[in-house]
This record gives sequence, C-alpha cells and structure tokens, in this order.
Amino acid sequence: MYKLKNLMTAALFAALGSMATADSWTLNADASRIAFGSVKKDTVGEVHSFEGLSGTVGADGAAEIEIDLSSVETLIDIRNERMVEHVFKNAPKAMLNAQIDMAEVSALAVGASTVVDATGNVELAGNVLELDAELFVLRVSESQVLVSTNDMIMLSIADMGLTAGIDKLMELAKLPSITRVSPVTLRLVFDMDEKKAEAAPAAATTEVALAGDPTAGKKVFRKCKACHSLKEGKNGAGPSLHGIMGAAVAQADGFRYSKAMADSGVTWTAETLAGYLADPKGYMPGNKMAFRGLRKGADIENVIAYLAEES
Ligand code: HEC
Repeated sequence: MYKLKNLMTAALFAALGSMATADSWTLNADASRIAFGSVKKDTVGEVHSFEGLSGTVGADGAAEIEIDLSSVETLIDIRNERMVEHVFKNAPKAMLNAQIDMAEVSALAVGASTVVDATGNVELAGNVLELDAELFVLRVSESQVLVSTNDMIMLSIADMGLTAGIDKLMELAKLPSITRVSPVTLRLVFDMDEKKAEAAPAAATTEVALAGDPTAGKKVFRKCKACHSLKEGKNGAGPSLHGIMGAAVAQADGFRYSKAMADSGVTWTAETLAGYLADPKGYMPGNKMAFRGLRKGADIENVIAYLAEES
C-alpha cells in the first residue's frame, strides 16, 4: 500500500506540473493572412498577399511566423514570378519573430480584446529589420486567439534591402515609379495546442486507482451526485459518468459539453482525473463544470477508486 501511495503522489505532482506550464499556440493557416500594398505610377494602388503561412507561439511568448515567399499572390502570374526572382531573390521564406506578453493574452476572457506593443523583427534574404507594432488581440474562444495589426505597419523598401529588386521590377514593367514604402497588415489566428494529458500506462492506472478506498470514495461522490449519475445515459447538470475510467473525454450520449472539454483530447485515467478533480478550472481552462475541486488528496484518491470500481 505504501508504494501505491507514492505512485499516487507522483501522479498528482505530474498533473500539477502540467497545469503550471503555460499554453503554446499554433498558427491556423486557413484563417490567417498577411497582405501588403503597393502603388505604381503614383496612382494605381494594389493589394498583394501571402498564402503560405505557418508558425507558433511558445509558452514563453516567443512568436515565430514563417512566410513562404513563393506563395506571394499579386493576381498576375508574371508579376508573382518577377517578385520571387528579383525582389525576394528566390529566398524560400521570410521569418517574422516577435515577443508577445502571454500573461496578458492568457488573462483575456473569451470575447475580450486588448492592444499590446510587440517588438520583433522580420528576416528576408539575409536582411534583418527591427520592428515595433501595436497588435490588436482578441480572445475568440478558450482555445483560439486572433492577433491583427492595430493600424498598418509601414515597411521601408530601402530598410528591407529590396531597393535593387524594385528598381528591376520598374525596368521590366516599364513603370515610371513603384512604392518605396509598403503598408502591411496581418491577421493571425492561433489555436491553443492540446494539453499533453497523456494516458498513464494501464497497469499504473489500476494500481493508483486501487490505492484509494472505494467505500470512502462513495461518500466523496455525494459531492458529485448533484450533477452526475453513474447510470448509463442519465445526464443531469453534468454528464453521466458511466464507464468513465479509461474512457475518452466527452463521450456521454446527449450531453452538451463545452468546446473546451470536447476538444481537450483527454483520456480519463487515475492520473488525468486526479489533475482535473484537484482543480477543474486550472486543469482544463474554459470547461463548465461548476465545481471548485477536491482539496484533500485522500478524497481524490478515494473517489477515483470508487469510480474505477463502478465503471
Ligand atoms: C455543479 C455540478 C457538478 C458537480 C458538483 C461536479 N461536476 Fe463534474 N461535470 C459537470 C459538468 C457540467 C461537466 C461537463 C463540463 C463541460 O462540458 O465543460 C462535468 C464533467 C465531468 C467529467 C468529465 C466527463 C466526461 O464525459 O468526459 C468528470 C470526470 C467529472 N465531471 C467528474 C466529477 C466528479 C468526480 C465530481 C465530484 C467530485 C464532479 N464531477 C462534480 C458538473 C459537475
């Protein structure tokens, strides 16, 4: 029994550890867009964009966006080719690096927005240009954030080291002038990476579950009963917990789960249950279980043993 208790403690600490780490995010390429403008002959304004974007924001707030330069779309094929060859010098990609205050972003409630100062740089064909920009950040949902330019970013062609390339375009297209400052707008949508609440190996799960006392756990379960039944298909304020041990999250028929829970990718093992029941909100931000969690380790251990026995 002593060894089993230690296992339980280890599982709890593992769960707490995963709660403490901040979230990381991945760019949603379909929903994102980077556009830039140009004016030729003083009078003809045009908008161009990049289709090929990818990127991440780490838990430390370091954002890295990769722009596939060959994906430039100016709506004229020959112009796309000339831009790639003469302006981008066939460089495969440009990198946008920025530092974002993740504490501020994480603290945003769903639907709330803020404007943050971001500093960073853009790296293109061996040239690195420092940038400051105001970014508008909107928390779309628990697991999605939209970041856009608050105004426009004005990029100097000379500072970017692209003067010769633009001269060449003018020559090829026989134009008297092309913009030497280009307004740039960004719309970047990031999806939160799934929490790494991996299933504990099956053997360990059973051992940990057995560490608790199911009879004592039945009493603890009274706190859950207001919302949960163990009968199959019987949902209340919370979903039926029938067969919950070892089950994938959000499997109860006919229960409307929050998106946060439905998309969490969790499998319910002694380990993930311990993490969730100790702090439902912290473990799975945005889930709608209105229960503040079990304080005592023994209660958690026991209720898990009870759930394991009933499942
Ligand atoms: C006030 C009501 C309420 C109480 C009390 C409550 N829960 Fe929940 N529980 C919910 C709701 C609502 C959800 C679904 C949350 C969502 O969709 O975001 C949920 C979800 C769960 C899930 C995930 C189910 C699944 O299908 O993936 C587990 C496990 C769970 N609760 C266990 C417990 C345990 C164990 C207790 C008691 C210690 C408890 N809950 C107390 C309302 C409650």
